[in-house]
Amino acid sequence: MKFYYMKTKIFILSYLAITLVKAQKNPIQLIPQPVELKQSEGWYELTNKTTISYNLAEASFLAGLLTQKLNTPTGFNLKPVLGTAGSIQLQLNDVANPQIGQEGYVLEVTKKGVVITANKTAGLYYGIQTLLQLLPKEIESKKEETINWTIPCINIIDYPRFGWRGIMLDVSRHFFTKEEVKTYIEQISRLKYNTLHWHLTDDNGWRIEIKSLPRLTEIGAWRVERAGTFGNRTKPIPGEAATVGGFYTQEDIREIVKFAQERHVTIIPEIDIPGHSMAAIAAYPELCCTKDTSVKVDPGTNFAEWYEDGTFKMLIDNTLNPSDEKIYEFIDKVFTEVAQLFPSAYIHVGGDECYHGYWANDANCQALLKKLNTTDVKELQNYFTGRVEKIIQSKGKKLIGWEEILGGSTSSESVIMSWHGMQGGIDAAKKGYSSVMTPAPYVYLDFNQGESTVDPPIYAGLRVSKSYLFEPVPDSVDAKYILGGQGNLWTEQVPTMRYAQYMTYPRAWALSEVFWTPKVIKNWPDFAQRMETHFDRADVANINYSRAVYDAIVTTSLIDGKLMLQLGAEMADIDIFYSINGTMPDSYSNRYISPVELPEGPIVLRVITYRNGKPIGHLITLDREKLVERAR
Ligand code: ACM
Repeated sequence: MKFYYMKTKIFILSYLAITLVKAQKNPIQLIPQPVELKQSEGWYELTNKTTISYNLAEASFLAGLLTQKLNTPTGFNLKPVLGTAGSIQLQLNDVANPQIGQEGYVLEVTKKGVVITANKTAGLYYGIQTLLQLLPKEIESKKEETINWTIPCINIIDYPRFGWRGIMLDVSRHFFTKEEVKTYIEQISRLKYNTLHWHLTDDNGWRIEIKSLPRLTEIGAWRVERAGTFGNRTKPIPGEAATVGGFYTQEDIREIVKFAQERHVTIIPEIDIPGHSMAAIAAYPELCCTKDTSVKVDPGTNFAEWYEDGTFKMLIDNTLNPSDEKIYEFIDKVFTEVAQLFPSAYIHVGGDECYHGYWANDANCQALLKKLNTTDVKELQNYFTGRVEKIIQSKGKKLIGWEEILGGSTSSESVIMSWHGMQGGIDAAKKGYSSVMTPAPYVYLDFNQGESTVDPPIYAGLRVSKSYLFEPVPDSVDAKYILGGQGNLWTEQVPTMRYAQYMTYPRAWALSEVFWTPKVIKNWPDFAQRMETHFDRADVANINYSRAVYDAIVTTSLIDGKLMLQLGAEMADIDIFYSINGTMPDSYSNRYISPVELPEGPIVLRVITYRNGKPIGHLITLDREKLVERAR
C-alpha cells in the first residue's frame, strides 16, 4: 500500500513536471494579439491519429492548406475529410455569429481537439494562422522534426479592428519574381494582413504587361545595369543595352491574384501617374510635354532636387502631359486591362510627387489653364485626377490615390492614402472622403530600423517600437472615415527579397497588431516579449528580419559647449557598455547608467549591448565628428 502510494506520488509529480515543461515549451505568443483569449489547463497533442474535417466544400481548400502545413514538419500523413467529426474541425457557421463579422473566428482547443468556427472562409484562414502560432515553432520547419506537437487548451474570440490591413510592395525600384511576390503575400497573410498594395510602375521600371501597349514592358521594364547606391548612380549612356529588370505577364498576374485570393489578400494595383512615369515615357516619349526621346528608364540616378520648403524639381521630365487628349486614351487602355486583371474594388492611381515645372512651360498646358480659368498650374493635376477618376469609374472600379489627389477627385467614393503624415487623412475626412493611413514617420518600411551607421543608409529612421505606437485614427476624425492602415516598403535600397523581409520584419509584426488588435489591449512590453519568440519562429521558417531592436540608441547633445552622451535601448533587460579609449567594448568596459560628458579630443565611441552576460546587439562606432553632428 505504502509502495503503491509512493509510486502514485512519483507518477503525479513526474506528470506535473512534464506538464510544466510542456506548458513552458508552448507558451501562448500570438501576433497579432487576439481580442479575447482564455487559456485553460492541459493541451491537445497532434499525432498521426489526428483527423481534420471541414463542414462545407467552401472550406476544402483551407483544410488542404492546413493539412499540408501540418504534414511537412510532423511527417504525418493527415488527410482532410468533409464532415464534422475531425479532431481538428473547420466549421463555417450556418447562422452568422454577429460578434466576429466577415473576418473573425472562434478557436477552441480542448484536450480532445480543435474547433475553428467562422462566418466566412477568411475567418477560418485567420483561425488557422492562430492555431499554427499555438503550435511549437518547429511547425514552421520545411523538414521533419521529432517533437511533441502540443497545442495549449484555449478559447479565442477574435476579429479585426480595421477592414484595410495593408502592406505596399514596390516592385518598380527593384523587381521581384512571381514566386518571391507569392511568398511575400503568403507571409503577410499569415499575420492577418488582407491587402497587398502593389506599386507596379515608377521611374525605374514598368512591371505589368499591357497587351495594347507592348512597349511599356518591351522598353519600360528594363534599365541599364548599375552598381552602387540607388540615387547615386550614373545615367544611361546613349546606345547602352538595358538588361536589368523584368515584368509580370498577364498570366503571371492572374496566378498571383489567385494565390492572394486563396489567402484572403486583395491586391490593389498601383499605376503611378501623372508623375513617377519615366519608364512609361521611355517607352512612349509622346506621353510627356517635352516629348524627349532621350529619356530612358532610370537606373537609380539622382534626377530630383528636393528643397527645404517641401518643393522639388525633376531634372528629367517624368510627368504625363495633362493637356493632351491622347494621354487619356493611353490611360484608358492601361486601366481597361488592369481592371480586367484585378478583382479589387479599388485601383490606385498614384498622384504623388508630381512635378509641374514642365507643364508650366508648355503652351498647350497654358491653354488648358486658360480654359480652366486659372493661372495655378497645380489645377492641372486636379483636372488630370478628375479625368482619371472618370476613367476608373467607367471600368466599374473606385479610385484610390496618394493624398495629392484630394483636390481633384469629385467622388466621395474615392479614397485618399495619407502618407506625409496624418494631415492628408484629416483633410480628406473634412471633405467627406475615407482614408487609409500610411504616415511615413510610422509605417515607411524602407526607413532604417535602428542605428543609421550600422544598417545600410537611408534618409530616415523608424524603430519597431515607434511603429507599434502608431494610432491610425486621429482624435479629430470620426473613425468611420479611416478604413485602416498600411506599411509601405519602397525598394530603392532593397535589391533582394531576403532584404525585403529584413526591412519588413519585425515592423510588419508591430503594424499587424496596430491594424488588428483593439487599441486597449495593445502593450509594447508585452508585444516586445512576444516579438522575441517570433524571431525564433522566423528563424525556423527561414524568414529574414532585423535585430536592430537589440542595438543601443545613441544620442548626443551640446550643453554649454559640452558634448553629452545618452545611451538607451528599445528592449528590456539590456545592459549597455561603451569605450572611448580605443578598445573594443565588452561587459568589463564602462557600463552606461546615466548621461556622460565626453572629453575633448579625437575620441571614438564604441557601444555594445549585452543581455544575461552575452553580447546581443551590433557594435556601434562613432567618431567625434559624428557625435557632434548627431547633437545638432
Ligand atoms: C510616396 O512616398 N511618394 C507616396
